[in-house]
Amino acid sequence: MQAGKSGGRMRSRGRSNSRSAVRRGTVGRLAPPVALVAAVVLAVGSVATVQSAAQSPGSPLAVLLGGEGTSTRTPDHNAFSHPMANLTFADRATFNIGNAVFRRAWVIAPSSTASGDGLGPLYNARACQHCHLKDGRGHPPEANFPDDTLLSMLVRLSVPGEAAGDAPLPEPVYGGQLQDLAIPGLAPEGHLWTEWTDIPVELAGGETATLRQPSYSIVDLGYGPISPDVMLSVRVAPPMIGLGLLEAIPEEAILANADPDDADGDGISGRPNWVESPSLGEVALGRFGWKANVATLIDQNSGAFNGDIGMSTALVPASFGDCTEAQAACRAAPHGAADGEVEVDTQLTNFLLFYTRTLAVPVRRDADDPEVVHGSDVFADLGCTGCHQPTFRTGADAALPALSDQEIWPYTDLLLHDMGEGLADHRPDGEATGSEWRTAPLWGIGLTEVVSGHTYFLHDGRARTLTEAVLWHGGEAQAARDGFAGLAPEDRAALLRFLESL
Ligand code: HEC
Ligand code: HEC
Repeated sequence: MQAGKSGGRMRSRGRSNSRSAVRRGTVGRLAPPVALVAAVVLAVGSVATVQSAAQSPGSPLAVLLGGEGTSTRTPDHNAFSHPMANLTFADRATFNIGNAVFRRAWVIAPSSTASGDGLGPLYNARACQHCHLKDGRGHPPEANFPDDTLLSMLVRLSVPGEAAGDAPLPEPVYGGQLQDLAIPGLAPEGHLWTEWTDIPVELAGGETATLRQPSYSIVDLGYGPISPDVMLSVRVAPPMIGLGLLEAIPEEAILANADPDDADGDGISGRPNWVESPSLGEVALGRFGWKANVATLIDQNSGAFNGDIGMSTALVPASFGDCTEAQAACRAAPHGAADGEVEVDTQLTNFLLFYTRTLAVPVRRDADDPEVVHGSDVFADLGCTGCHQPTFRTGADAALPALSDQEIWPYTDLLLHDMGEGLADHRPDGEATGSEWRTAPLWGIGLTEVVSGHTYFLHDGRARTLTEAVLWHGGEAQAARDGFAGLAPEDRAALLRFLESL
């Protein structure tokens, strides 16, 4: 996790003028701007007209959720792994190299492949893809260690107080994240232990559901006592689709939906998270992570290399990853970089950045099914759209032509909302409080089972179905949640069909 380490560069909050320059600068070397390939647009042209209809009651639903780059390929278990349909031929080659970096399993230093070593010394996984399996979402373990492992999730750690840029203050010994793996000779930091409590819920029409409430602790501590004040945030890996489009939404468009004091009195406020951005060198609007705790994709990727895999990059150059000063043997372990260099060079991080920007959103299914259309109306009537903002237009000057000026349907406002005590992790992150979360994008959510083989939802994967995910909503979403629980069974079924069409 890079946030706690990027000290001392906080500047005034607000709009960053340097962002688009930085974006273009990073990618320009790989992919000089090229006009869109007309044939690709033509191939999906017949549905593109439907796309432009606004989502008002009874109107046709948008099918190209990710704009002209939407993938219209068969929505099978590879549905999240396709390049955007509007990439040029040259861009696709770049995407493929980026994909190889995403899948690469990094090895312990020293090794015979100097360009691929430097894993750890403490780490969570050897490859991005091990957590973001099939570019889809992670899941909680079936059982506590050693019966299962935490693969595809991580646990953020901090203690009360703030590091530079309002970043969480790392736990003094264990750092900003729990690494449950280590190279030979070093102890892993520990393991997450989860206890579940069942909460029965009654729904209108005689249906029932059972929510499972997790209670988390850390066991098998490898480096002595952990602070009694330590705060944990347990998070699953989110899906990787459409992220470049979310990055390309103009900041003004996101801020236009913010209503921090609930001036319109609808019970829904919505606040931006302002976070320190290593790539921009200033405080910027958070868009990524479950608490909108990261501003840009290059920040997120570099933080992941460092915190999750223990690899250094130009932006987060510590070759020892998340090892603290208190973990001296870890800091002294061999690493994969020659003096003054980093373990993953900028060419590779640029390919990876390209890949994380250009994974396509799959086309919507069953958009003209009357039940799905009715479900869309129920979604709006219940006030779900108050946070799950259906549509945005990306900026005209995005990092790539393929990302620019697209009508997209992510169903998120990218803002923070107080979701109540039930979902709270009690761990502030930037300006997000312990009970605030970023509205999760809903595009692609109906393909979770096909892609990932499970239906675990929410930041820690506690919900086992879409119904449970909605029933966990509280705080600003309490009225929407109660409306959902009070629906006639056929309306609730229609709402779920709508979610599954995304
Ligand atoms: C140990 C599991 C794990 C590994 C390994 C991992 N990630 Fe992640 N990734 C996560 C989790 C968990 C989050 C959510 C983080 C948060 O909320 O702070 C995340 C978030 C992201 C996001 C933001 C997605 C969004 O919707 O906001 C991107 C982009 C990303 N990871 C890219 C990468 C890349 C690139 C790598 C490899 C360098 C990588 N990840 C390695 C678990 C992992
Ligand atoms: C006040 C804002 C708000 C409202 C209103 C709201 N949501 Fe959400 N929704 C969120 C946030 C924030 C999350 C992420 C919470 C978390 O992970 O802890 C979320 C998560 C979800 C998820 C799980 C997404 C995932 O990736 O795991 C689903 C499904 C969902 N919402 C559906 C709905 C439906 C249906 C409604 C209307 C009945 C609704 N939401 C109303 C804010 C809202």
